[in-house]
Amino acid sequence: MSDRMDRIVSLCKRKGFVFQSSEIYGGAASVWDYGPLGVELRRNVADAWWSAMVHARDDVEGMDAGILMHPRVWEASGHVGGFADPLVECKTCKRRWRADHLDDSACPRKPSLTPGAHKECEIGEPRLFNLMFKTFMGPVEENAAVVYLRPETAQGSYVNFLNVQQTSRQRVPFGIAQLGKAFRNEITPGNFIFRTREFEQAEMQYFVEPGADDEWFEYWRDRRLAWHTEMGVRPEKLRLAEHGPDELAHYAKAALDIEYEFPFGWQELEGVHNRTDFDLSRHQEFSGKRLMYIDPGSSKRFVPYVVETAMGVGRAVLVLLVDAYREEEVAGENRVVLALHPRLAPVKAAVFPLVKKHGMPETAAKLHEALRRARIPSFYDQAGSIGRRYRRQDETGTPWCLTVDGQTSEDGCVTVRDRDTLAQERVGLDHVAAWIRERLE
Ligand code: GAP
Repeated sequence: MSDRMDRIVSLCKRKGFVFQSSEIYGGAASVWDYGPLGVELRRNVADAWWSAMVHARDDVEGMDAGILMHPRVWEASGHVGGFADPLVECKTCKRRWRADHLDDSACPRKPSLTPGAHKECEIGEPRLFNLMFKTFMGPVEENAAVVYLRPETAQGSYVNFLNVQQTSRQRVPFGIAQLGKAFRNEITPGNFIFRTREFEQAEMQYFVEPGADDEWFEYWRDRRLAWHTEMGVRPEKLRLAEHGPDELAHYAKAALDIEYEFPFGWQELEGVHNRTDFDLSRHQEFSGKRLMYIDPGSSKRFVPYVVETAMGVGRAVLVLLVDAYREEEVAGENRVVLALHPRLAPVKAAVFPLVKKHGMPETAAKLHEALRRARIPSFYDQAGSIGRRYRRQDETGTPWCLTVDGQTSEDGCVTVRDRDTLAQERVGLDHVAAWIRERLE
């Protein structure tokens, strides 16, 4: 990992964003736990996505399907037969890697080289390795009871397509959005929370009339790219990468990645896919049930095409952390700051009494309580110098620090210090909550 990545990972651990899973047992490979600040950030990202994709629109409905589904779902979707990566093994080291990721992988031998580069090493022929986790439904471990942990949320939307359309009385074009866990037994997980075996997806399936799919594909490409910049990601760090014919997933007619420039290179952040009528047609065939849409106005009947947007929430969190992380010098001192969009910041305001006397702690505690009542996540801190308190909040991305000082008892105001501009202004104690709300909206 690069130095910058190392410093971000270390900040995440030190400040309670992300911990290695089961650390006291030596860690579970590529599984990460979100700590008190990380879970807030992740929820804020998921909420911002849900708000933009479901609440702000009349044409997208939300739903939440089970992680476990009928095993035939995954036969119909093509995942049992085709959701596989090429795996190679070194006959000497006994390590395994993804054949198409060898350039980014390391052999366990020293000096650190790519797999196969040491003369003792011998990489075998690639074989396909299915990425779905298998488990058993019920108490008997027999073949008939095999089920899979879903590798994407999308299939839950397809098998419920008519349930959602009919109950919500939607007409095509319309979409179904889901947020939920997905699982893939990745051969080479890594780069912190970038590629993990358990991850949360934010996916939306948009059902359109065949023939309208190319236009909707462009619409959703532009909308999703814009959303990332609305969340504060620097536009110059984002780009679109269209998949060539040999890169397309088994279900796709067209696909592109919204990529971000991570410290480890340009990598996929979100995918936009034209899945045609592949999934719905396959579920019709395998279930024997019709998944035909009948338009109430024109009485046209068709199996809709699907344009999908698919983002990993953890991967979006990593983009936001990497993009917001800055090391700078302020008034001759170094500071680390997470310049997160205020809407996404885990804590919105920190409340400080300037000194631990003259009634300042009491006034500050009341302000903190008032913010809590207004459901504005805030943090009370009276430990250390004011400069150190600012630094601690900068590191965790708190946009505003509110200081109760000697003047507060006279003018009823606190000093609000802005994390990014360092500008200070006086705001009335009674108006602080509204002042913050206004800026969050
Ligand atoms: N339903 C389509 C689908 O799942 P995908 O490109 O395989 O498409 C969508 O995955 C998004 O899910 C990716 O762009 C990425 O953000 C996230 N993702 C996929 N695999 C992941 C993994 N192993 N760890 C973390 N995020 C992952």
